[in-house]
Amino acid sequence: MRILGIDTSCDDTACALLDNERLVSSIVYSHTTIMKKYGGIVPEIASREHIKAITLAFKDALQGTNINDIDHFVVTNRPGLIGSLLIGVTFIKSIAFALKKPFSVIDHIEAHLYSPLLDQSSPPFPWIGLVVSGGHTELFKVEDIDRYTYLGGTLDDAAGEAFDKIGKLLGFTYPAGPEMNKFVKERATSKDRKKYRFPRPIKEDFNFSFSGLKTAVLREVEKKKEIKPNELVELSASAEEAIVETLVIKVKHATRFFDVKNIVITGGVACNTRLRELLPHAFYPQPKFCTDNAAMVVNLASLLYKIGKLKATPFTETAYSYSEIVH
Ligand code: KG4
Ligand code: ZN
Repeated sequence: MRILGIDTSCDDTACALLDNERLVSSIVYSHTTIMKKYGGIVPEIASREHIKAITLAFKDALQGTNINDIDHFVVTNRPGLIGSLLIGVTFIKSIAFALKKPFSVIDHIEAHLYSPLLDQSSPPFPWIGLVVSGGHTELFKVEDIDRYTYLGGTLDDAAGEAFDKIGKLLGFTYPAGPEMNKFVKERATSKDRKKYRFPRPIKEDFNFSFSGLKTAVLREVEKKKEIKPNELVELSASAEEAIVETLVIKVKHATRFFDVKNIVITGGVACNTRLRELLPHAFYPQPKFCTDNAAMVVNLASLLYKIGKLKATPFTETAYSYSEIVH
């Protein structure tokens, strides 16, 4: 069974090939350098970059495999930037249609959620799964393949978005999350992390909110004429601590509430070293499988295939943005 998959849900053009459960390739064409110029992702530009990169990513992912030898094509069709998603979906549909091969659509969040299974050392079910990236902060209780409960998610910004927006405010370049993380790790003491008491969750539920925290940092910055080097360390460290602690509080609440020990954290923010320090027993996929990729898409397709749930999608299927999806 050879499965080829594409993910163009945001600004990365990703394509991967799985051959009998062996990952042959996972290609990611990142457009971050272009987005840096704009200080964030411009959906229109992301779509145009996908158009340029998709054929190249597809060819690279094939690694010489004859296109006719692909048994099944899969593509992320939700949630994400609609223009970006449509490019991946249209590309895969056209190829599958021309080759008279089946194609199936995959949910991007589900692909992240099961991405730990790309690694053989992932913990057994059940687990509490947190998908935490620039676009999502979603908490799940996962019982098995295709058997999970959505517990809650962000009511406003995603955690990665909070890192990026607060980081931008403090002068870090896009995407500010990794830069801020590195800066804090290299310079901050535990005292710096406690200097500002930015808001933490007050409700014992499974939803997240980061907009209050973002405003609190903004107010502190506005109070100062200029940010001195030591203040930058304190502000960055305290903001990182507040974002990360928010994630830790909610995850721990879920483990206690459902009496589930195992924790799995994935998505770009799962690369954060402070999060890894505060939740050392959680399982984190390798960083290349935390950030957007198509290996997780073919992985989920293969898992679904094994339990007879990889259904061929009609060619009338299309893409859906985040706001069109109700959990
Ligand atoms: O999963 P991803 O590549 O794309 C989305 O689906 O959003 O995640 C990118 C996000 C960005 O917001 C970035 O700032 C954040 O993940 N990120 C981090 C770190 N590495 C990536 N945030 C905090 N610390 C990091 N080390
Ligand atoms: Zn993602």
